[in-house]
Amino acid sequence: METEKQTQTTAEQMTDRDLSEQIKKVTKESHIRAEKTELMMSFQKGQVTLTQYKLLLCSLHEIYQALEEQMDRNSDHPSVAPIYFPTELARLESIEKDLEFFYGQDWREKIVVPAATKRYSHRLRQIGKENPEFLVAHAYTRYLGDLSGGQVLGRIAQKSMGLKSNEGLSFFAFPGVSSPNLFKQLYRSRMNSVELTEEERNGVLEEAVRAFEFNIQVFDDLQKLVSVTENQLQNTSTYSKQVKTLHIPGTIVNTSPLLRMVLGLFVALATVSMGIYAF
Ligand code: HEM
Repeated sequence: METEKQTQTTAEQMTDRDLSEQIKKVTKESHIRAEKTELMMSFQKGQVTLTQYKLLLCSLHEIYQALEEQMDRNSDHPSVAPIYFPTELARLESIEKDLEFFYGQDWREKIVVPAATKRYSHRLRQIGKENPEFLVAHAYTRYLGDLSGGQVLGRIAQKSMGLKSNEGLSFFAFPGVSSPNLFKQLYRSRMNSVELTEEERNGVLEEAVRAFEFNIQVFDDLQKLVSVTENQLQNTSTYSKQVKTLHIPGTIVNTSPLLRMVLGLFVALATVSMGIYAF
């Protein structure tokens, strides 16, 4: 009996020391806050709009470009090598495919990146240079998130936007991962194999909380942009159903209010005169 108790205690202690458990624990509250952001709530309620999704893709592009560039750059670093899974996890190419689907071939000229997203990518590049061991915190936050709630969100997004196929939704698909749950287990065990000093471990845990905070700020910034864009279009058209599917040029948010109004009016008039009543 005593031996069983001792084994149990040792197992609990070992679990407590696991980076994967510690990181989950310290980010628990942040995860709840991230889930409750307006953007994530729209997803969960099945009300995500095309505008929201397109703007999210723009930010994800900026984020994964920086994250994957820094993961590649540090792939031999002892804290990065165990959790380096480009074949299974890399998202940049899928995001680019989705952007091309929604914005067309010249998507690079149209994408909009809010200030909070710029701050996030700047931080990723900074730690890639100065503290590569912190990359584990960012890779965990994004990739394990994509493999968890992200799977459900993909199906919801498809329904909400009325997309007929999986086109535009490559971001959510992980063809190199046959079982997300098993892969997450492997990923956690690799995280736990990373050797860190006490100071580095604390740094990684703090960075994970910061990673969630960056995501929350990106979602909030993005939602502000969505409100401006959607209000603008709603004010200039009586056909709100059409407006939902109209192509919104990325640069529209950078123009003056007067120009935005004129452009909005032009889009609405063009739509009405073309007699498009359904999408
Ligand atoms: C609509 C919003 C979201 C929903 C519904 C959601 C839901 C979930 C669910 C169900 C899990 C699995 C929990 C488990 O296996 O114990 C999970 C895990 C996770 N989520 Fe989210 N999530 C959302 C947003 C986010 C966001 C915005 C991020 C970060 C940017 C994120 C990061 C994570 C991470 C890192 C995990 C793995 C936790 C672990 O096992 O250590 N999630 N999420």
